[in-house]
Amino acid sequence: MRLLVTGGAGFIGSNFVRHVHRERPDWEVVVYDRLTYAGDRANLADLSERVTLVEADICDPAALEGALDGVEAVIHFAAETHNDNSLQSPWPFVHTNLVGTYTVLEAVRARGIRLHHISTDEVYGDLALDDPATFTDTTPYNPSSPYSATKAGSDLLVRAWVRSFGVAATLSNCSNNYGPYQHVEKFIPRQITEILEGRRPKLYGAGENVRDWIHAEDHSSGVLAILERGRIGETYLIGADGERNNLDTVRLILTLMGRDGDDFDWVKDRPGHDLRYAIDATKLRSELGWTPRYRDFEAGLAATIDWYRAHPEWWRPQKAPTEARYEELGR
Ligand code: NAD
Ligand code: TYD
Repeated sequence: MRLLVTGGAGFIGSNFVRHVHRERPDWEVVVYDRLTYAGDRANLADLSERVTLVEADICDPAALEGALDGVEAVIHFAAETHNDNSLQSPWPFVHTNLVGTYTVLEAVRARGIRLHHISTDEVYGDLALDDPATFTDTTPYNPSSPYSATKAGSDLLVRAWVRSFGVAATLSNCSNNYGPYQHVEKFIPRQITEILEGRRPKLYGAGENVRDWIHAEDHSSGVLAILERGRIGETYLIGADGERNNLDTVRLILTLMGRDGDDFDWVKDRPGHDLRYAIDATKLRSELGWTPRYRDFEAGLAATIDWYRAHPEWWRPQKAPTEARYEELGR
């Protein structure tokens, strides 16, 4: 098998490439990545020559076409991914997430290549805190931010290319990931690295917003299961029953790092801030026999904290520019 992984130098993409490298020792992987502020070739440095990197843009059809020789399947992770950035400048999100996904679809259509499209549960909008319902693949789309709206649009493009052009694609919508190699702009790494730098975590709004945490390794095993055994045209939700509010998560990070649980700052809320996400992954579990391995959030978080503690050279260059962007936003 020769896979092309768009966005494979980013957080989840590189965890997925590492997962495949370990679990499928005879597979070759071409990482196709523009190396934006969120992509880093260092994320792949420990892997063998079975993994190669093409530095190019998914919006560039000629470059993409040139990278597809011998490729049997494309896993499409590349995207602009941070909600706060999408509220500040939506255009890169429209361009990469919509035009980029269109370009990927046209490229796989021309060559008859299998595609798996990676998406987020944020396309479904949010749930009330006490809503007994959770997201399934039939929940109506109702995105809130430029990020989630462009991801929703990318999903709909994929579904249309399956139905109208017979593209052999599957889709997955996953909940919030955590683990090593996540950019310091995101919630968990931001708080860990604030504490490591001797500052205080920053909690948006009232801290009551709920996220459904899953370890990136479990996301990866779900994607591999869908690639190998998923039904074409189907959407699978990936989640590990990890609902927790942000206040509890900040307190847990502080406690695990030996600090007082109240040692954080309340900051201005994010406009349009989704209240709660919650995934029902029954379809993936029952149809494909998938189960998450990282069931203990506290243990997974402790290991993630250890990783950031051990790799300051990885995150420190991104830290000051990220905090400068937050300062502009007052968050
Ligand atoms: P990330 O921001 O860490 O990485 C994105 C990668 O895409 C980077 O390597 C970047 O260089 C690359 N990229 C961006 N624009 C590109 C372009 N135009 N051409 C080529 N490469 C480009 O993101 P992530 O958190 O790893 O998310 C990966 C995917 O998973 C995204 O599609 C995202 O919507 C989805 N997802 C993320 C989460 C989460 O919690 N982070 C949850 C569910 C789904
Ligand atoms: P984030 O990692 O940006 O993911 P998403 O917006 O895709 O869910 O944020 C996760 C949650 O944490 C979200 O409710 C916003 C909140 N948050 C904070 O409270 N403080 C922060 O510094 C950041 C970055 C996020």
